[in-house]
Amino acid sequence: MKKSSAIMSLLISVIVLFYPSTSYSAKVPKLADEASIDSVINAMTLEEKANLVVGTGMNVARVPGAAGATYAIPRLKIPSIILSDGPAGVRISPTRPESSDTYYATAFPIETLIASTWDINTANKVGSAIGNEAKEYGIDIMLAPALNIHRNPLGGRNFEYYSEDPLISGEMAAATVKGIQSNGVGATLKHFAANNQETNRMTIDTIVSQKALREIYLKGFEIAAKKAQPWTVMSSYNKINGTYSSENRDLLTNILRNDLRFKGFVMTDWFAGKNPIAQMKAGNDLIMPGGSLESNIIYQPEVIINAVKNGSLDEKVLNKNIKNILKVILKTPAFKGYQYSNKPNLIQNAQISREAAAAGMVLLKNDKSALPLNKGTSIGLFGNTQIETIKGGTGSGDVNVKKVVSIAEGLQAAGFKLDKELLKSYTDYISKLRKEEQYKPYQGTLGKVIPTIPEKPVESSEIDAAVKNTDIGIIVIGRISGEFKDRKNEKGDFLLTDAEQKMIDQISNKYHAAGKNTAVILNIGSPIDVASWRDKTDAILLAWQPGQEAGHAIADILSGSVNPSGKLATTFPISYSDVSSAANFPGNPPDNPAEVIYAEDIYTGYRYNTTFNVKPAYEFGYGLSYTNFEYNDLKITQKNKSKDSFTVSVTIKNTGKVPGKEAAQIYVTAPKGKLEKPALELKAFGKTKLLEPGEEQTLKFELTVKDLSSFDENQSTWILEKGTYEIKAGASSENIKGTVPYVVNKDIVVEKVSNSLAPQVQIPKVF
Ligand code: BGC
Repeated sequence: MKKSSAIMSLLISVIVLFYPSTSYSAKVPKLADEASIDSVINAMTLEEKANLVVGTGMNVARVPGAAGATYAIPRLKIPSIILSDGPAGVRISPTRPESSDTYYATAFPIETLIASTWDINTANKVGSAIGNEAKEYGIDIMLAPALNIHRNPLGGRNFEYYSEDPLISGEMAAATVKGIQSNGVGATLKHFAANNQETNRMTIDTIVSQKALREIYLKGFEIAAKKAQPWTVMSSYNKINGTYSSENRDLLTNILRNDLRFKGFVMTDWFAGKNPIAQMKAGNDLIMPGGSLESNIIYQPEVIINAVKNGSLDEKVLNKNIKNILKVILKTPAFKGYQYSNKPNLIQNAQISREAAAAGMVLLKNDKSALPLNKGTSIGLFGNTQIETIKGGTGSGDVNVKKVVSIAEGLQAAGFKLDKELLKSYTDYISKLRKEEQYKPYQGTLGKVIPTIPEKPVESSEIDAAVKNTDIGIIVIGRISGEFKDRKNEKGDFLLTDAEQKMIDQISNKYHAAGKNTAVILNIGSPIDVASWRDKTDAILLAWQPGQEAGHAIADILSGSVNPSGKLATTFPISYSDVSSAANFPGNPPDNPAEVIYAEDIYTGYRYNTTFNVKPAYEFGYGLSYTNFEYNDLKITQKNKSKDSFTVSVTIKNTGKVPGKEAAQIYVTAPKGKLEKPALELKAFGKTKLLEPGEEQTLKFELTVKDLSSFDENQSTWILEKGTYEIKAGASSENIKGTVPYVVNKDIVVEKVSNSLAPQVQIPKVF
């Protein structure tokens, strides 16, 4: 090339590079990366700002059935992002009016079952599958996981939560968040915080001590926020000590952002709180669902605009909220222009759902080695729920699946022979009643409502015939609960109905008289009474609500192709009155409480049982296997000064005859001191690989001084008091296999946090 033409072409490229295509676009910045955010916010009109912090309603055109979306500002390259419920799977409409395609999602087991696996790898795998389904269906953020504490077994949404214990809740949530977010879609920790009931959930004032908040109700969020950095947090409906969560600066800024180091954005729960300005100021960045569907919410952007104009809301506050939202938007598939397929791998995810389900089922009783069953065993299967098997709870946590594998179907597919007459009589009974007006499923606010059909009365002759024809009698007991409503300590709910009691009684008597066994399968989402009937049957399998592959997963356990390894992450009390919050749930008066006092304080679940010697029916951490395990050589192997931590190890050996996995638990009994402490607290847990008979594995657990410390609410400080800490390895909270001491010579201030959420009233001490 000649020198002159080279100069000419250089000149042209310089002109092309620097000459703006239009003077207009040169001035309007586009959202591109974190560095662009400030200029993008600068370029926004006040209207655009107010719209961006309020959702666009529940009518999500791009993905029908999704829970909500944010406002798009195309001129600044800000896309609308789409949010979908969980936590048991992606929740979208399965069909769309304009197309014959289907958009079914996979229903995974409920979180309570996931926690019962005691295996963070299972939680992670399920999270990852959910995240992938979300991404392929055009979702940017999953409204999951949910991790409120099982304060009381009657909590209507307990099925959506993991446990009564914050450590296992936080670890499971962290693993789930990591799984979801590994796909490049966001996860949401919800409902922040102390949202432990459905009764008057939009207005209830939770009165709770700072100590119980820090040690129990915030702890899981702390673990998950720090370990997994979720993109978003959803504030809860309730008030905490007088202020709505979504309007609570102590909660959302002082605690969440400062103490817990959360970096994403906060959204309200749907229609939560009352005052958009207070929400903005508190650090609740996004108000959901917004939109114009409901007359009571179209005002939100307008209120915000007026507040900025009249000076009651500093525009800087709004800018900060927007910045939090934009930082997350930058990471979303919508921003990146991801071309989703609408074709997630439902076959692969069904398999993940089935494996997770089997991994979290808990064998509560197995006398006379009634289970597993030999191949081809004939079964007299009783109970309506064998046909209408319950995959999960109702409300926003429900998933629209193509099919749920019933228990009857699953057992037959595994080669078991079901008594044909019995199966026919249940099938006919259910299809007949479903045609009656009162039992017809109908469309509720949040999806299909399926009225409960009364248990089919079992004739004596029917049982006699089944006893004659089959090797074992299996009775299925089912319960469903969900959003909006707490459960009740009544027959048909926490208690068995007379018909159910009679069924267990008669069937067990008759099978036993013939020298045959019975078993009960519990297809439930939260504890029920077991003490009144458990002696009558030989085996009890707690299948929880195991997702869409229910029948297959139950068959995997009954056949022994999967050895049960689930353990309880929530206590089964002997009677409801043995629950520490029984007198204060859901508040007083129980049918319409304005406040609920957490008078049991830090003594939730097993913390109460172990401290006050209240015997449960089945304790926290309990679960049987078809094999046995030995725990040996518990020791502190290493002190790590730089990280203020130490490592504990224990060796677990399979001493039985079949391969199996064991969930091992590390508890701590802290020394008495100035601070109140429960007798026992879970501090770590782990699960072995599948151990062959005779095989052993050493599990290691790292404990930090923070893990062992207690909260001193007078100083807003986590303190490790001096004394001897008993480090215990247990197969359950009542089955401690070994103890080693860990001595602390002087009190140690571990962490100072903000003095937040102090109750305004004296909380009565009940224990
Ligand atoms: C629930 C949330 C859910 C939201 C959107 C609310 O009623 O409490 O858990 O994410 O609805 O469906």
